Amino acid sequence: MEKLVVTGPTPLKGEVTINGAKNAAVAILPATLLIDGSCTIENLPNISDVKISCQILESLGAKITWIDSHTITVDSTNISTTKAPLDLTSKFRASYYVIGAMLSRMGEVEVGMPGGCKLGARPIDQHIKGFEALGAEVEVAKGKIHAKADKLVGNSVYMDIVSVGATINVMLSAVLAEGTTIIDNAAKEPHIVDVANFLNTMGADIRGAGTDMIKINGVEKLAGGATYSVVPDQIEAGTFMLAAVATKGDLVLKNCITKHLESITAKILEVGGKVEDYGDSIRVYCDKRPKKASIKTLPYPGFPTDLQPQMGVVLSIADGTSTINESIWESRFQYTDELNKMGAKITAQGKSAFFEGVEKLYGAPVCSTDLRAGAALIIAGVAAEGVTEIYNLEHIDRGYEDIEGRFRAIGANIKRVVED
Ligand code: UD1
Repeated sequence: MEKLVVTGPTPLKGEVTINGAKNAAVAILPATLLIDGSCTIENLPNISDVKISCQILESLGAKITWIDSHTITVDSTNISTTKAPLDLTSKFRASYYVIGAMLSRMGEVEVGMPGGCKLGARPIDQHIKGFEALGAEVEVAKGKIHAKADKLVGNSVYMDIVSVGATINVMLSAVLAEGTTIIDNAAKEPHIVDVANFLNTMGADIRGAGTDMIKINGVEKLAGGATYSVVPDQIEAGTFMLAAVATKGDLVLKNCITKHLESITAKILEVGGKVEDYGDSIRVYCDKRPKKASIKTLPYPGFPTDLQPQMGVVLSIADGTSTINESIWESRFQYTDELNKMGAKITAQGKSAFFEGVEKLYGAPVCSTDLRAGAALIIAGVAAEGVTEIYNLEHIDRGYEDIEGRFRAIGANIKRVVED
């Protein structure tokens, strides 16, 4: 078993280069299944979710060549099966994108029920509603999803709930459909725009991504040959921004799009941190105890749920009592039990949590309950006095590349240890 051992407190200082976005990468990779030919994807984060995505593509017949640790070529000319291995697809959430892409390309697909972080109920009814609106038949049974369509025809799809996954998945299924699809009440996250940009680079006709109405004019074919670079990771950048505040540090984050970070910047300024915005890089520093704040997580451009636990660390040591209302996932406060082991005073009730700020956190053995909770615990460990041991690293490795190396480079005393 592996664990991270963090000894604090240390103010984090220096420069971090932000990687390509996990949530864009895990959608762009299945989107390559739509291409009759090969394409090159650059700025891929080297994380386990990307490696599993590549394995799924290979199992379907695509050929993948790693050019370097962040660049691959995918040749999807010969897709040989419509059945994606159940063990791989059930390993993470974004495997559901294989459904939209394969329906579009092959007219049929079978995948395992998507896995991923246990953040509460994670239904896929809006994905299914979209596929069915375009003419597919979808059956969910015995841990599998089977979808089939003789022909996909564009239609209007109104999303009952703003869903990142359903918006991208319906977009994927509509790219090669006959006629026009309109997605209303679409999600607007930066990675939705990135997937649309990628598909348009390959010959798709998608307009309006980044607004709540996306129009997809179906095309007959996507051709390869192009190179595309994945958008910088808004959540990774936000994680380091909040790490700077929690540890009273001073970080410059390079290769980010600061426009995507506005909700995080606003909250950092509210708690007393300082932010200097240079457009494609950002400096965040803080030299005093953070002030209290109220946070409500919302779809983009609101405060992202995927930064809620990292913000929770800042509020756990803020001066005064803060609240967080989580409006996306019902079980996103599991990390608060772990922070309480470190001396925090947090009471979570349903979708709200109350943070009675303490002056200091103290090192303790803790468990990463999900991906972003793991990142939060690393930040807490760096800010805390003493030694923190973090277990269940597989969650963290799904979404952050070389997390300990990158924290070490900015001054953290952190190492990965193998334990019997
Ligand atoms: C994506 C992100 C995840 C992030 C989440 C919200 C990826 C791979 N993952 O997850 O990191 O936390 O967006 O920003 O990009 N819902 C339904 N029916 C559906 C689909 C969703 O009711 O068919 C609900 C969910 O239960 C949740 C809300 O809609 O309450 C938002 O979920 P969604 O945006 O779909 O999240 P994911 O795409 O799974």
